[in-house]
Amino acid sequence: MPGGLTGPRRTGRRAGPSASTAGPGRPAREPAGAADGLRGGRTRPERRPGYRHRMAEAPEKFDAAMTAWREWQDAPWGRLRHTIAEANLVRHLDGPGGGPLRILDLAGGDGGDAVRLAARGHHVTVVDHAPAMLAAAAERAAASGLAESVTCVRADVTALPAHLAGGEFDVVLCHNLLQYVDDVAGTLAAALAPLRSGGLFSVMAVNRHSAALNIAVREGDPAAALAALDTDRSRARTFDSVLRLHTAEEVVPVLRSLGCRDVHHYGIRGFCDYITDDARKRDPAFYADLERLELATTARPPYTHTARLFQLTATKGGR
Ligand SMILES: C[S@@+](CC[C@H](N)C(=O)[O-])C[C@H]1O[C@@H](n2cnc3c(N)ncnc32)[C@H](O)[C@@H]1O
Repeated sequence: MPGGLTGPRRTGRRAGPSASTAGPGRPAREPAGAADGLRGGRTRPERRPGYRHRMAEAPEKFDAAMTAWREWQDAPWGRLRHTIAEANLVRHLDGPGGGPLRILDLAGGDGGDAVRLAARGHHVTVVDHAPAMLAAAAERAAASGLAESVTCVRADVTALPAHLAGGEFDVVLCHNLLQYVDDVAGTLAAALAPLRSGGLFSVMAVNRHSAALNIAVREGDPAAALAALDTDRSRARTFDSVLRLHTAEEVVPVLRSLGCRDVHHYGIRGFCDYITDDARKRDPAFYADLERLELATTARPPYTHTARLFQLTATKGGR
């Protein structure tokens, strides 16, 4: 694994359009509900005794699921997740005269966001606690000719090494971590510490509002959808884990209480997951239309509120 314990640097080059992490299309028909990686396609309430006390997931669990995770990322719904998130970030990042930024990708996994941003000329430090994820991030960066622009650091997000937590980063991403933690405010506070004042923060998580809709549409099960209205837990298939579901409405006040301003709310996959024919999404023309639709609606209410994921961007510090 390259990189390791170097601090943020101002390196990198502008390299035009982002590298795509999408793999080849997969012709096989998807099992029902594959679009969100939830077990059996369900966002059913998790009823196992004791699950409330088992939120933090061990790194080994993420490492063990590398193959499933890669398949998910390469599927249309995984590609959309990355493409729309990148487009939303670019709205805030790429101003005229903007140079390379120092970006910290917390719980960055195998570098799906990091390599796209490195391809835009930025330097990205990926932090993750799972070694196989980090090794895959380093491989992905090297395969894209971006090894110099991506640094990988193994650490727990809630116990960052001092050289990362000093407030020197221009941008911090915290994408799809909140569903694995109990203490949202504490995790967000830890995530904001490495960000400089005036820097951009981006947090993404599974949207609890989408849970009942997802069950109703994909499974045609109104009773299960009704049950899903009043739970903040579900079981996810990809990492075989219990997820905690949040809403943007809950997270925005936390961000503000931590000193963030200019909060923008985006929805990711406002339509994809409610189209039940997953196989059709692998058709390039269909996918292109779907991507255009998702890009057109990511910042457009009411779709922001019912999309599968929410992404919040914010600026750290008061005016
Ligand atoms: C669902 S993946 C998300 C990866 C990437 N951020 C994305 O949105 O595609 C969750 C990642 O969070 C990492 N993770 C979970 N809890 C963590 C923690 N406390 N500290 C560091 N990494 C963590 C896992 O190892 C895994 O790579």
